[in-house]
Amino acid sequence: MPAIVILGAQWGDEGKGKATDLLATTSTIDFVVRTSGGHNAGHTIVVNGERFATHLLPSGILAPGCTSVIAGGVVVSPEALFRELDALSARGVDVSRLVVSANAHIIASYHSTVDKVTERFLGKNKIGTTGRGIGPAYADKVNRLGIRVADLFDEGILRQKVGASLELKNHMLAKVYNRRAIEAAVVVDELLSYAERLRPMVADTSLLLNRALDEGRTVLFEGAQATMLDVDHGTYPFVTSSNPVAGGVCTGAGVGPTRIDRVIGVIKAYTTRVGSGPFPTELFDADGEKLWEIGGEVGVSTGRNRRCGWYDAVVARYSSRVNGLTDYFLTKLDVLSSWESIPVCVAYEIDGVRHDEMPMTQTEFHHAKPIYEHFDGWGDDISGVRSFGDLPKNARRYVEALEAMSGTRIWGVGVGPGREQTLLVHD
Ligand code: IMP
Repeated sequence: MPAIVILGAQWGDEGKGKATDLLATTSTIDFVVRTSGGHNAGHTIVVNGERFATHLLPSGILAPGCTSVIAGGVVVSPEALFRELDALSARGVDVSRLVVSANAHIIASYHSTVDKVTERFLGKNKIGTTGRGIGPAYADKVNRLGIRVADLFDEGILRQKVGASLELKNHMLAKVYNRRAIEAAVVVDELLSYAERLRPMVADTSLLLNRALDEGRTVLFEGAQATMLDVDHGTYPFVTSSNPVAGGVCTGAGVGPTRIDRVIGVIKAYTTRVGSGPFPTELFDADGEKLWEIGGEVGVSTGRNRRCGWYDAVVARYSSRVNGLTDYFLTKLDVLSSWESIPVCVAYEIDGVRHDEMPMTQTEFHHAKPIYEHFDGWGDDISGVRSFGDLPKNARRYVEALEAMSGTRIWGVGVGPGREQTLLVHD
């Protein structure tokens, strides 16, 4: 199984790091690759009881012998990259096997400045971004005003590009946002200070990965953010600025779609989202608070509380479709153990009409009311269960029902954060 994609099927924070880690421990993974997003992601991985959080680095950085790749579709803050590398090194993790694409775009300090002032300016219409400069860096990329990793090694080009990129921004900052203009020379000096350390990590990652696949090596493309945050297929405009769907792996890595063998969607047994935007199954009652508390639903990246709600099978079917999923990995089933009855959204009611599929327009999605089916709970703590067959009958029924309505088989189920708390449903 040489090329595998793991991605988020909901609004992020589904536990993708755990699924990646499981694959890395059950089969030999030679490369783990990030293909989109930046340090707005947050992967928590528990290894031998020790908790690690990565934001920009692929979670394969924790697997000895595995090469971690930051591909061209990622936006890289060198400052955040080095901070993360230093923190892992300090805990004894070998971070020497990291490769960064020469084509990846740089997040400079002015991108997060622009991110924050834009959000403030939007007021109640704000997106609720992570404030890390992701959107402005991708905007510059598309506007052809971006700085790429390779530019850090050519001072003349770097000065020219930073100057061009800041020209319009400085007009905006001073005249619209009433802020001080940013000096290009200061930005250039900062970026140049990263060049020497970055240089040995930089490569043509498309060539590297295609050669690896030619040699039959196993490459895992690790998603960040998630399907419903995709700039084309998510709840636009309340989305991130990249393509976390499976198609984004191909453009982000420079690997053709015919090379991908398996696409695993990671999905929680309920739903969460951070930031603004529509969320049909969101709960504003004691159940929502209980999911938040038992699920520990606080963002890894920003420490923000996640909004919580029931499982949404319409979202799951949509994710199956737009990603061409081959498998689902269902996480956090154990969080639901204390409910007597568990609602699952099977369809939406929009202006009196039932919708079994994602509505075509955002206006309809904003008006969607969940239609629930209720499933009997199981009562027992399942975090110690080690095989799917040993789950209480109602827990198995819940998983099987989700599988039947979500459009893709469920390959594995998570019943806790540890490596050993994963049950295989289908081999
Ligand atoms: P940005 O990616 O910082 O521009 O934020 C855009 C939206 O995506 C906001 O609603 C964020 O909360 C959300 N977002 C970005 N990264 C993640 C993530 O890793 N998990 C969950 N939500 C995210």
